[in-house]
Amino acid sequence: MPAEAINTKDYLEKNKRLVEELLDRYLPSEAEEPQSLHAAMRYSVLAGGKRLRPILAFAAYEYCHGDLNGQDLPIHYAMAALEMVHTYSLIHDDLPCMDDDDLRRGILTCHKKFDEAVAVLAGDALHDIAFKLMAMTDSIQAVKELAQALGTKGMIGGQMADVEAEGKDITEQEITLIHQRKTGALIRCSVRIGAILANADQTLLNKLTIFGEKIGLAFQIIDDILDIEGDQKLLGKKVGSDSKKVKATYPKVMGLKQAHSKADQLIQDAVDVFDDYNDNIFKNLAQYIAQRKR
Ligand code: IPE
Ligand code: IPE
Ligand code: MG
Ligand code: MG
Ligand code: MG
Repeated sequence: MPAEAINTKDYLEKNKRLVEELLDRYLPSEAEEPQSLHAAMRYSVLAGGKRLRPILAFAAYEYCHGDLNGQDLPIHYAMAALEMVHTYSLIHDDLPCMDDDDLRRGILTCHKKFDEAVAVLAGDALHDIAFKLMAMTDSIQAVKELAQALGTKGMIGGQMADVEAEGKDITEQEITLIHQRKTGALIRCSVRIGAILANADQTLLNKLTIFGEKIGLAFQIIDDILDIEGDQKLLGKKVGSDSKKVKATYPKVMGLKQAHSKADQLIQDAVDVFDDYNDNIFKNLAQYIAQRKR
C-alpha cells in the first residue's frame, strides 16, 4: 500500500464504478432470451448497493500485490461473482416466505417488481452465473471458498437459523453464530478470495481472514442497529422490518447500547489486525463500515 493518505470516499467510488462495469459486462443481456429472467437479474444487480464484498476482494488482492495488468482478470470474475451471489441472497431474503420486504436498494424488491417465481429463478440464475465466473478464475481453492461460505455452515445455514429464531428468545452465542453465518461468512470469504487469487502467503491470508471475520460480524450488527436507528431514504430499505417480523437481532438480544459497543469493539479489533501506523485501506474500510448510514 502506498504510504500517502488514502481517500476512502474516492477509493470506494472508483471501485464501485469498476464493479458496475464488470457486472454489466458479465450479466446476460435483456435482449437475449429468456428476456424476463434476464431483465429481473439485471434489475436487482444493477440497482446499486455499496458493492462492499467485491471491493473488499479487490482491496485484499491489491494489498497482496496481485497482478492488475489487463482486462477480465481472475479477480474481476471473482468480484462480479461475489456481488451476484450477494444479490441473489438479497432477492431470496426479501421474498414473502422469508423477510417479506417490498423495498430494496431504493426500489421495489424483485418479487414486487416482477413476481415470486421470477424472483426465485433470478436468484438461482445469479448463483449459477457466479459459479461459472468463479470457475473462470482457474482457482479451485477460490471456488471451494465461495461454495463453503454460501453453504449450510455459511450463508444458507445462517438464513435457516435466522428464520427458525423468529419470535424466539435466543442467547448472545446463538445470535453471534447466526450473524457470522448469514452475513459474516460471505464477507470473510470475499477478503480471502482476493488474497488467494493474489497468491498471498499463509501468514497474510490468516491476518486478512481475522480482519474479514471481525468486520463481517460487525457489518450485520450495524445492519440490525440501522433497522432501528436508520433513515429509510439513505438505507433504501424499510426500517422496523426486524421488529415487525420479531427477528432475532443483536439489539433484541442485548439492547441497543450493548449492540453498539459490540460493533465498536469488533471494528477496533479489525483495525488492530494491521499494526502499521501508515494509512491503510483496511483500517479505512473498517471505519467506513462503522460509520455507515446506508
Ligand atoms: C444487506 O447487505 C444485507 C446484509 C447482509 C446485511 P448490504 O448492506 O451490503 O446491501 P447492499 O449491497 O449495499 O444493497
Ligand atoms: C440478510 O440479513 C442476510 C442475507 C441476505 C444473507 P437481513 O435480512 O438483516 O438483511 P436486510 O436487512 O434485509 O438487508
Ligand atoms: Mg433476513
Ligand atoms: Mg432481510
Ligand atoms: Mg437487516
